[in-house]
Amino acid sequence: MAETIEPEHRLKKNLSTLDLIIFGVAVIIGTGIFVLTGRQAAVNAGPAIVISFVVAGIVCGLAALCYAEFASTVPVAGSAYTYSYATLGEIVAWIIGWDLVLELGLGAAVVARGWSAYLANLLSLPAWVAGEKAIPDFGAIFIVAVCTFLGVLGTKLSSRVSGVLVAIKVAVVLLVIVVGAFFIKFANYKPFIPPAEPTAQTGASVWHTPLSQLLLGIEPVHFGIPGILAAAAIVFFAYIGFDIVATTAEEVRNPQRDMPRGIIGSLVICTLLYVLVSLVITGMVHYTQLAVDAPLAHAFDVVGQPWVAKLISLGAICGITTVVLVLLLGQVRVLFAMSRDGLLPIGMAKVHRTYGTPYLITIGVGVVIALLAAFIPLEKLSELVSIGTLFAFFVVALGVIVLRKTRPDLPRPFRVPWVPVLPILAALASLWLMLNLPVDTWVRFAVWMLLGFIIYFIYSYHHSRERPGIRYDREHAKTYEGTDPYKGPNVE
Ligand code: ALA
Repeated sequence: MAETIEPEHRLKKNLSTLDLIIFGVAVIIGTGIFVLTGRQAAVNAGPAIVISFVVAGIVCGLAALCYAEFASTVPVAGSAYTYSYATLGEIVAWIIGWDLVLELGLGAAVVARGWSAYLANLLSLPAWVAGEKAIPDFGAIFIVAVCTFLGVLGTKLSSRVSGVLVAIKVAVVLLVIVVGAFFIKFANYKPFIPPAEPTAQTGASVWHTPLSQLLLGIEPVHFGIPGILAAAAIVFFAYIGFDIVATTAEEVRNPQRDMPRGIIGSLVICTLLYVLVSLVITGMVHYTQLAVDAPLAHAFDVVGQPWVAKLISLGAICGITTVVLVLLLGQVRVLFAMSRDGLLPIGMAKVHRTYGTPYLITIGVGVVIALLAAFIPLEKLSELVSIGTLFAFFVVALGVIVLRKTRPDLPRPFRVPWVPVLPILAALASLWLMLNLPVDTWVRFAVWMLLGFIIYFIYSYHHSRERPGIRYDREHAKTYEGTDPYKGPNVE
């Protein structure tokens, strides 16, 4: 924190509530609404996908308040990893940092696949080139390569560029809502909540049953109320990114007032848009026909409006690009902080002589994300992203309570109301959504976290700059400080 006060490391405090809301929308609206909505309506919730979006939005709202307090208590530009290192200790920080790889790195891969699906739709590309059936998915590789290149050059989203992209994205979403409303057939809403059906009938594997259904010992079903909850846990992905807004705490003019307004404001706007879009889409096309790659464009093709469909695809491509870029750079930034702290090999954090960016990490992250996006189906990845992010929310919510006890003295520009009730509710809500994710996702998550612990105890624990006896070259490290691959929206 002291570092952030030094003039050469101080970021300008010039972000207002509106800037935060624009940034929030830039990061939040992406593959979730443009792709996942259709398939979840088709296989889990029917038109009641609308309710799933409301449920997920409420969980995010609770978590958002905790994030805002955490971020404003330790208002250094950084992610939950940095805050937890400073306040809750190294092992918690490691868990969060390792877990954030799922949210940011894997998240970028999922979003890249969604981008590619709309590219395929726009250019009518053959199925083997881009989109869900393409393996490898050349469209996804392309967008990840472009973002990696921009990351190495140190290109940041200037507020003007992100403003334009956000405007296009929101315009397209509004286009779907306004034009689509004319094509709604009320018959498509019947039944609004399709009755629960045993999944066994559809041949779905038990491994893909939500853990909650298995724990409660009920016969695995989709649709009905359990289906709405299962879909909520998956479309939760559509809200991911608001936590990244909290990372700009240091640059906000009046964090106490602007941070909660910015985060909650962008969440409310996105929830509203998501609810309306899903209402319109499931009204235009029967939910059983929505299990396609680019459902928003598909709906307009079905009602005989291919031009609108093309416009939507074009807008989706522009809009989703910002999400890929921010998630990718967010991932670079967390790995950079982890290696600067010695938890990962410090050599990785080397910065480029000319561009001042951590190019080794950026290229490494780009290659891994491109490979993941090229070969693994979107849905498998998105569930793992959701569980990872929900787990980070869970830890952050508990962290707020712990920190109030252990460090009551720290100034907190923003304070969550009703502590500990609200953070406990946030933690429980996140856990509850996690439990609605499928068993196979839990297994993958457990394996990932276990791998993290193994690496921590074999490597990171011994190389951390906090260990006595570790030769930590301060001068060497100093060259990295103040190098910030991603600083939020107001950096030109
Ligand atoms: N919320 C972001 C999206 O839906 C990650 O693309």
